[in-house]
Amino acid sequence: MRILGIETSCDETAAAIYDENAGVLSHRVHSQVALHDQYGGVVPELAARDHLTKILPVIESVLKDSKLTLQQLNGIAYTKGPGLVGALLIGAMTGQTLSYALNIPAIPIHHLEGHLLAAMLEEKKPAFPFLALLVSGGHTLLIKANKLGHYEILGETLDDAVGEAFDKTAKLLGLPYPGGAHLASLALKGKKRFLFPRPMVDRPGLDFSFSGLKTFAVNTIKTHILDEQTKADVAFAFEEAVIDTLVIKCKRAIEKTHIKHLVIAGGVGANLNLRQRLTKLMEKVQGTLFTPRTEYCTDNAAMIAYAGFLRFKMERTPTLSVDVSPRFDLLELTI
Ligand code: KG4
Ligand code: ZN
Repeated sequence: MRILGIETSCDETAAAIYDENAGVLSHRVHSQVALHDQYGGVVPELAARDHLTKILPVIESVLKDSKLTLQQLNGIAYTKGPGLVGALLIGAMTGQTLSYALNIPAIPIHHLEGHLLAAMLEEKKPAFPFLALLVSGGHTLLIKANKLGHYEILGETLDDAVGEAFDKTAKLLGLPYPGGAHLASLALKGKKRFLFPRPMVDRPGLDFSFSGLKTFAVNTIKTHILDEQTKADVAFAFEEAVIDTLVIKCKRAIEKTHIKHLVIAGGVGANLNLRQRLTKLMEKVQGTLFTPRTEYCTDNAAMIAYAGFLRFKMERTPTLSVDVSPRFDLLELTI
């Protein structure tokens, strides 16, 4: 079975081909970062228009890279949501049109299920049940993944997502959008000088709150001369506070569930410091950390093609309706 994956939920136009025997044959991501940079964030209408012009060339390139024709595909998986409605519609319409024209099934995929399963694309893959720390620009979740389509949310953010907090703090430091990776590199030059709070760690439970860190950064910046070293010191203190908080909550989730397999997922999962700290934690509790390569942490279509493949194996319910859901709830999923 060979599945074409299509991902257009936000500002990346992505396609990939997953083969049941050979794994990911090819995957491409066209990033719209340059398009949205001047606005300091994603402009939904511009995103949708850009997906429209890029989606077919991106699909053509993954076919070319894997030396396949459309006729050699057996199914199509596209992101149904959550995401920007105009952006989602481009991927869904493309997927459904190809499905109709080629007479092969198309399946709608939950974007977060894609992220959760991305670690399974690696040689060292997790088996259900596992815990997942899903940290992206729009989501911060601690999840207990029981089996395909059966997920429990153990904790989530009450305000900003981790990636959002990284991006907002990076913007305060004058870094380009999206600022997560830029802030992380700047933090490498930082010294231990400021102490940011570790939000909600003194309360029981597994929820998060990151908006206070951004306010703390604003106040620190206001009360200091913002030279290059101070910027790096703020980046360092911010990153340490975020990572400490995430690590503490992961440890709590392991203690609560007694599950010692932890998967890292989503764009912030690309953060090296976070990966190192979680590796240490898992060594300490004698568990295992599963990390997708960084290009499978950030938005991509390989994870969508793979989620589609697993679902095609379980259910074959092709539908001709163009199914998008900007606020798609992970708990609505079943199989
Ligand atoms: O999963 P993703 O590509 O898109 C969403 O579904 O949101 O995540 C993007 C987020 C952005 O906020 C970006 O700044 C953050 O991931 N990010 C990072 C790093 N690389 C990407 N944050 C911290 N450190 C990084 N190295
Ligand atoms: Zn994502």
